[in-house]
Amino acid sequence: MTFNLKNKKILITGASSGIGARIAETLADAGAIVGIHYNKNKTVAEQIFEKLKNDECKAFLIHGDLLKIHVQKTLVDNFINKAGGIDVLVNNAAAVFEYKDPLELSDDSLDKSISLNFKAPYYLSASAFEHMKRSGGGKIINISTAAVKYGGSLKGLHYAASKAALESLTRGFSREGARYNILVNSIRCGLIETDMRKKIKGYSEKRFKERIKMIPLGHPGKTSDIADMVLFLCSSSGNFITGDIITIAGGD
Ligand SMILES: NC(=O)c1ccc[n+]([C@@H]2O[C@H](COP(=O)([O-])OP(=O)(O)OC[C@H]3O[C@@H](n4cnc5c(N)ncnc54)[C@H](OP(=O)(O)O)[C@@H]3O)[C@@H](O)[C@H]2O)c1
Repeated sequence: MTFNLKNKKILITGASSGIGARIAETLADAGAIVGIHYNKNKTVAEQIFEKLKNDECKAFLIHGDLLKIHVQKTLVDNFINKAGGIDVLVNNAAAVFEYKDPLELSDDSLDKSISLNFKAPYYLSASAFEHMKRSGGGKIINISTAAVKYGGSLKGLHYAASKAALESLTRGFSREGARYNILVNSIRCGLIETDMRKKIKGYSEKRFKERIKMIPLGHPGKTSDIADMVLFLCSSSGNFITGDIITIAGGD
């Protein structure tokens, strides 16, 4: 099966690392004009851009700290100004700021979880939605987590809950968007091999190994497992899928 996304204008948040980077590469390979969004990791974002650059590829870099409310509200407009429109928004940027029991978690980490993992996609989706309504449709793909299914472990409760809110957003926007041909879905990722866990305060490699043992298929997923589903949803093969939460988690 081949997928053609020629000249589709696609913004991918958090494309400077892990899953987002792989999504950017996969969609650019299929011909899309991708906005490689990054925050702190300019060097890696530039490397991804350099890797993609060729005569066919029209990717570009777009910066913004999505913990900042004005960035949450303006990033989509910035993308549209550069790309000339938006066909797909992939809400991928997220973080687990600390891995701690609820009463030990700092208030700041809880606020940041809600802000980056829910509030940012909320405003980004709302901005994209308005534009897509006027332009005849579009797609929004939210990257969620299998932790929503279980509620997450006690130490990761705040993260799971912020992603549960993202899934609620998925359902709400999909119901409202259907009449405008705006299709909205979530991908619930299981454990995927990226650097994410190495950035989490309080999360150990021991915990990572224990977590792997809980996956029925017995190993973590690859970034391409997620990117390939994003590609499918972006393509015309995904034109009858909306309001869905698609799990890619090795049986989790
Ligand atoms: N890896 C897993 O096991 C797993 C499992 C379930 C769900 N997920 C979900 O998959 C998505 C990608 O995860 P990943 O593993 O690829 O993580 P990752 O490697 O840590 O990448 C996170 C991305 O988010 C961006 N980001 C972080 N803070 C930001 C901020 N304040 N403003 C803007 N962007 C920010 C980062 O940009 P910079 O590096 O440029 O700062 C980076 O590009 C997330 O939504 C995550 O919740 C991952």
